[in-house]
Amino acid sequence: MHDRLVAIEHIVAQHRHEHGALLSILEEVQRTSEHNYLSKDELAHVARSLTLPLADVYSVATFYAFFNLKPQGEHVITVCRGTACHTRGSKPLLEKVLTYLGISLEDDGSATTADCRFTVHTVACFGQCALAPVVSVDGVIHSRITEKQLLMLIDALAGKKEAVV
Ligand code: FES
Repeated sequence: MHDRLVAIEHIVAQHRHEHGALLSILEEVQRTSEHNYLSKDELAHVARSLTLPLADVYSVATFYAFFNLKPQGEHVITVCRGTACHTRGSKPLLEKVLTYLGISLEDDGSATTADCRFTVHTVACFGQCALAPVVSVDGVIHSRITEKQLLMLIDALAGKKEAVV
């Protein structure tokens, strides 16, 4: 942890005089973290380094959806739960993926496998309703995706077999 705190101090020193420094600092702290998230210790260290109240740092970290407060999987699967995707089977698709990975959604609407290989999120709408159901895998949008295609894609990411999607 000591090395990590030193690294955070370096990040803070690089950005502290910039406009919007806190946002830039949190972005870089998350980007350089092992599991793409901001831990309580890291947030506290950023607050101390900037002599800001911890509550101010938390309010920024919780306001922006791109900040994660829990460890994220190496691969991120986001299933759309909007109306168009729901109508075209996104609920059973989501349930199938969660069962396949052996995880359950937590209160914040996400779940990560114990080995941190996969995180599943839901989203209200990708804005591509005509292509429902829509799922993003590692930031790549897959439209009109079937359960079989999605499970094959997961297998490929897990190194089990070739993806065909
Ligand atoms: S409802 Fe799924 S993309 Fe809009």
